[in-house]
Parts: sequence; C-alpha cells; structure tokens
Amino acid sequence: MIDIRDRRGLSIILITHDLGIVAQTCDRIAVLRGGKLLEEGPKRAILARPQHPYTINLINSHPSLPGAISAPLPELAEASNPARPLLEIDDLHVRFRAGGALLRGGAKTVSAVAGVSLQIMPGETVGIVGESGSGKSTLARAVLGLTPLSSGHVTFDGVDLALQKSAGLGKLRRETAMVFQDPYNALNPRLTIGQMLAEVLKVQGKVARADIPARIGELLDLVGLEREFAGRKPRSMSGGQCQRAGIARALAVDPKLIIADECVAALDVTIQAQIIELFRELTAKMNLTLIFIAHDLAIVRNLCERVVVMYRGEIVEEGRSEEVFARPKHPYTAALIAAIPDIDPDKRLLQDAVGKDDPHSMPIQPIKRMP
Ligand SMILES: Nc1ncnc2c1ncn2[C@@H]1O[C@H](COP(=O)(O)OP(=O)(O)OP(=O)(O)O)[C@@H](O)[C@H]1O
Ligand SMILES: [Mg+2]
Repeated sequence: MIDIRDRRGLSIILITHDLGIVAQTCDRIAVLRGGKLLEEGPKRAILARPQHPYTINLINSHPSLPGAISAPLPELAEASNPARPLLEIDDLHVRFRAGGALLRGGAKTVSAVAGVSLQIMPGETVGIVGESGSGKSTLARAVLGLTPLSSGHVTFDGVDLALQKSAGLGKLRRETAMVFQDPYNALNPRLTIGQMLAEVLKVQGKVARADIPARIGELLDLVGLEREFAGRKPRSMSGGQCQRAGIARALAVDPKLIIADECVAALDVTIQAQIIELFRELTAKMNLTLIFIAHDLAIVRNLCERVVVMYRGEIVEEGRSEEVFARPKHPYTAALIAAIPDIDPDKRLLQDAVGKDDPHSMPIQPIKRMP
C-alpha cells in the first residue's frame, strides 16, 4: 500500500487497531472513541505527547513496549500427572489437493503441515507463530479433528485420534474448544448470545436445564460482557464484544484445551490487553491448557511460556518464550522478531533495517509490512 501511495500519489485512510502499523506508515493520527474524535495530529506528536487519557492508555497498552501487558510469567504448570502430555502430536502431515481440474496439469498437493511433532503438558500455554500460510490454522484444525490427518498421530489425553477415531472425536468435542479470528463469522447470526450459549450447554449436558440461565450469566460475567448481551445478536455487537462472546462459548464446554486462532487480531490494543489478561486468569484459575496462535509476537511473548515457530508446514524452532525471543536460533525466527512494527516511528521495519547482503538472511519470502 505504501508503495502504491508513493507511486501514484494516493491518499490513504488506514483504519486499524495496530498502533505499531500506524507509527510505521501514517503521517497523521486521529483517535476515535464512542463516535467522537478525541484528538488528532501528526503521528510523532500524538505518540510522544498524547493529550487524552484514552490515547495515553492505548499507547501504554501497545505490546511492543516491554512489560506492557505483563504480569509475571506463570510457573510452568506442575500437573498432578506430569509424565503424560495432554496433547501429543507425532509426525503429523496434512496435505490438501489444490488447483483441481480447472488448472492445466490437474490437481497438485499442498503440504500444509509437513511432519510436525509436539507435546503439550496439561496447564501449559503455548504460542504458535509463523507467517501467513505456514500451516498454523491447519495444525489447529487437525488437532481438533476438524481436518483429516494425512498421516501421523494426534493423541489427546491418551486417546489416539487416528486409531480410536469415534472415541477420539467424541472426547475432543466434549473437552476442547476453539476461538476463531473472525468473531462475526464464528457466531451464528440468527441466534442471540444467550441462545447460542444455551445450545452449547444443552449439548454438553453437564449443567441441569433449570440452571442454564444462571450459567449463561456466569459465563458473560467471566468474559466481561453485561448480562443484557444474552439478548443481543452478533450483528448488533462490536468485534471485541463478539470475540468475548466467542470466548464465553468456548468456556461453556468447560474445556481442558482451548485453541485460540488469531483471536485478538481484530481487537484494539486496550481490548486485546483485557482479553489476554482474561486468558491469563482463566488458565491460572482453571488449569486450562491453551494453544495461542498469533501473528503478534509481542503478545505471545507476554502470554505464553513456550513458543513454537512454524515455517512452511514445519516447526523450525521451539522453546521457552523468553529464550526464543531473546536468542532466536533460527534465522526465520530472528526475521519474524525483527519485523514487529515498533510504536517508535523512527525505528524502522526489518525490510528497511536489514541490508540485503546480510550474511544471516535466508531465502524466505519478504516479510510483509502489513501482517
Ligand atoms: N482446505 C484447503 N484446501 C487447500 N489448501 C489449503 C486448505 N486449507 C489450507 N490450505 C493451504 O495450506 C497452507 C497453510 O494454511 P493455513 O491456513 O494453515 O496457514 P496459517 O499459518 O494459518 O496462515 P494465516 O496466518 O494466514 O492464518 C496454505 O498454503 C493454504 O493455502
Ligand atoms: Mg490461520
């Protein structure tokens, strides 16, 4: 977009939650809240000397600032049975046929997940990062039984999905949940939030029918939505509110494992910080295991004890978050870290900062300015 702007002399109005991107690309910033323009001015002035308390809060919540969302990292969970992982992925492959008869040469195969092995212990919070198309969502869907495995094994709580298919799928349905990136598409537009939660609770069958309304209230409290949202439909709600409803739905099944796929990407940083804090509380309180897929490395660094870096369907690096972010071993991880748009407009992106003849650069696709 910036290239096109420069070449064609376009004006761009960029609407985004990502202050890092604003800092890197825009000339002027206008801050909107509750339908009102709170302040407006050149980006350096706004970022360095915000006037309105809301803007100050927005800037302070930016995850590129060290310690922004921070609370002390939770201790590595000492589960009652620490020997057995909750989730074990062994040499998993997922291949898709792509192209099809419309293209000359017929269908070809895409290896979306190419030999992934990973163990996740109960109570762990693990981040999965990697560029667009690296196979993160496919891995998540395969783990939850939503996409067929081409080969390899996924064992959830001792049940092998490939060997005990129906038992495994049943167990996954009852004990896992997914939170999606696009909250509008993930929620049924015809149901109110209350109806949606009631449906999940009925299928789950753990809560007596008479207690369902009370449980719906509890779930809304848990995710910080007013109780009146039980009567609202997704279309009348903001993205952040829908995402909270999506998290309430995930929690309704009382899951052992939640996989959150880009679930805060569409939210502004203050709401992001709240949702991250919510996940942190929930994982601590409920001994929940969380797999958190995100493009935003700063959030992963803040939330997850362990991080897994995927590149073209494979895990290229894995380890404790502090360790991986401080001393990345794989050049791809280093490139990902360098590409975090900084809130400081004078700290340039990797593309500008790293010379083309950098001896450490590897033949990867260029890091996009706008993830
Ligand atoms: N149903 C499908 N049919 C064919 N190809 C698919 C299908 N689903 C995913 N792919 C391909 O598999 C690869 C991995 O996709 P995936 O959605 O897992 O990436 P991702 O890491 O989640 O990316 P993003 O960060 O953009 O969400 C991509 O090349 C994608 O085009
Ligand atoms: Mg994805």
